[in-house]
Amino acid sequence: MNLITKTTELAMSVTLAYIREGDTVIDATCGTGQDTAVLARAAGAEGHVYAFDIQKKALLLTEARLRAKGYNNVSLLMKSFASMGEHLPAGSASAVVFNLGYLPGGDHSITTTADETLKGLECALKAIKAGGIVTVVLYDGHEEGAAEKQSVISWAEALDPHVYHAAFVSLINQENHPPEILWITKKKDRV
Ligand SMILES: C[S@@+](CC[C@H](N)C(=O)[O-])C[C@H]1O[C@@H](n2cnc3c(N)ncnc32)[C@H](O)[C@@H]1O
Repeated sequence: MNLITKTTELAMSVTLAYIREGDTVIDATCGTGQDTAVLARAAGAEGHVYAFDIQKKALLLTEARLRAKGYNNVSLLMKSFASMGEHLPAGSASAVVFNLGYLPGGDHSITTTADETLKGLECALKAIKAGGIVTVVLYDGHEEGAAEKQSVISWAEALDPHVYHAAFVSLINQENHPPEILWITKKKDRV
């Protein structure tokens, strides 16, 4: 596969390099469950995925996808990703994945927002262990998404360089606002 042309695949393939069977991982925005299923396979039967979404419709779609694939290592939570600290201990996850925006095929007015996303990202930094990764797929082609991207990038630029590496990937010659990727890895524990 030509990974550079498909940023969502690129985001996930790097994320998978940080996950071992038996790990705890988090899908912060499960949506249709596509990413959740990939994470569930990577974590394996001994591992566990915590999948969040604020929409019942998303959780039902995800549940159906997981059932069809036979994965039963996922907890589905109809909660904001900003509550993840209430559901698993700090420093326990090897990866947290955010796919920002609205549910594909759903109500476009229900979308991630800059303020809540920043809260969720702070929680994600606490949730990952040293050596773990936070992956964020961003879409700036809609109004809320453009504001959210500015906030998220400014926040990431200010992260302590002694604790985190933050990398941003953008397809700079393409039309129609392809998704962009932010990765953050934690060098040492700061829980
Ligand atoms: C782009 S979709 C995710 C797509 C998903 N990764 C997939 O594989 O289909 C973004 C999702 O974020 C959800 N969302 C919005 N705000 C949220 C929040 N505060 N916490 C958790 N999920 C949220 C939306 O309901 C929507 O389903």
